[in-house]
Amino acid sequence: MRTRVAIIGAGPAGLLLSQLLHDRGIDAVLLEARDREYCEHRQRAGMLEQATVDVLREAGAADRLDREGLVHHGIHLRYAGRDRHIDFPSRTGGRSVTVYGQTEIVKDLIAKRVAQGARMYFDAPVTAIEGIDGDAPRVRFLRDGVEEVLECDLVAGCDGFHGVSRGAIPADVLKTYERVHPFAWLGILADVAPSTDDLIYAHSERGFALHSMRSRAVSRLYLQVDPDADLADWPDERIWAELRERLALPGWTLDEGPIRERSITPMRSFVAEPMSFGRLFLAGDAAHIVPPTGAKGLNLAVADVRVLARACGEFFLAGSRAGLDGYSDACLRRVWRAEQFSSWMTTLLHARVDASGFDRRCQEAELAYVADSSAAMDSLAENYVGYTWAD
Ligand code: FAD
Ligand code: DHB
Repeated sequence: MRTRVAIIGAGPAGLLLSQLLHDRGIDAVLLEARDREYCEHRQRAGMLEQATVDVLREAGAADRLDREGLVHHGIHLRYAGRDRHIDFPSRTGGRSVTVYGQTEIVKDLIAKRVAQGARMYFDAPVTAIEGIDGDAPRVRFLRDGVEEVLECDLVAGCDGFHGVSRGAIPADVLKTYERVHPFAWLGILADVAPSTDDLIYAHSERGFALHSMRSRAVSRLYLQVDPDADLADWPDERIWAELRERLALPGWTLDEGPIRERSITPMRSFVAEPMSFGRLFLAGDAAHIVPPTGAKGLNLAVADVRVLARACGEFFLAGSRAGLDGYSDACLRRVWRAEQFSSWMTTLLHARVDASGFDRRCQEAELAYVADSSAAMDSLAENYVGYTWAD
């Protein structure tokens, strides 16, 4: 089998790249380890920056997003019985964010690619990537348990944090940076109308809580839990009781409903540099992970593939390697901005059992500063909607 770009992984990064390449007339084959059903139902992120919505529109994959996405003009910062609404458009030159589940983006992109007759193989785990330091890389994968080889010009490693692509970069070239946060998030999807207009990010001594949503009838909520927490210890009543406590505000009530899905996600900050080597290009979680507090993971994945698709266009259609050569640096600038913001939001909002009295007071002072200072709210808003450089 032969193609120009071998794309590994059918998460948002791989699927969107396959669409953007198709739109430029560049042939690609997508290989995904899991089945379609699994990819379409993996509950994850939901908050999209304006730039992410714009790329999905550009890819012609935003019809349902435009109909069903919930546009938000700010967030609530809630702590110590206070609720500060931070308005985005007035602080960011008119920008806002949209809630639309990652599952729905994945479903929309898969449906579109299938309708276009894409060469996209599910249940096809990649086992090895060879020859990326030469002109003719080869990707080995399994189909029905039988090994096959895909020959290509470029490899796009969009296979998430646990994929095989990153490992194909020689160890003496790859440098990794990591911070494991001492928390995890327990996330639920509940059949109940959201109890809020905009998302609520809440800090309390019991821990962090986030009230998000998926539609006017479905709420998405998260709780900070210990990294070794077990779902078996979290029956529905305990989850709701904890959410009520942490989100509490005089005069406000949290509506409850049947919990449809639940999962626990560890929190990690991670960056691999460089994001490319020879003819291999990493995109999305394969290259970097952010703790979810800043809602950046999915947005970074989309930003990477926008840069990569453009660079592939220059390479195949104009014969220039400049875009590919600049890919890693172009992405890493945005990645590190998001890493810093996500770590900052995480530290600001989570409760640490091991924090000293001094650290706790500093955290309280910082929360009050963010909720009181217009400059601090401007900064949070600018980063939340997606910081962009003037050049
Ligand atoms: P992924 O979505 O991970 O896709 C990678 C794909 O590659 C997968 O389909 C995988 O099966 C496939 N793959 C792996 N190995 C191979 C192989 N060898 N061969 C072929 N295919 C392979 N972000 C937020 O902003 N908010 C959240 O609440 C949030 N929750 C999250 C919860 C979890 C459990 C995880 C893991 C991530 C979460 N994120 C969240 C982050 C966000 O979902 C990711 O940043 C986003 O999914 C990145 O997309 P991606 O396409 O790079 O990777
Ligand atoms: C969602 C997830 C996040 O991590 C976040 O910061 C905001 C919203 C969500 O799943 O809706």
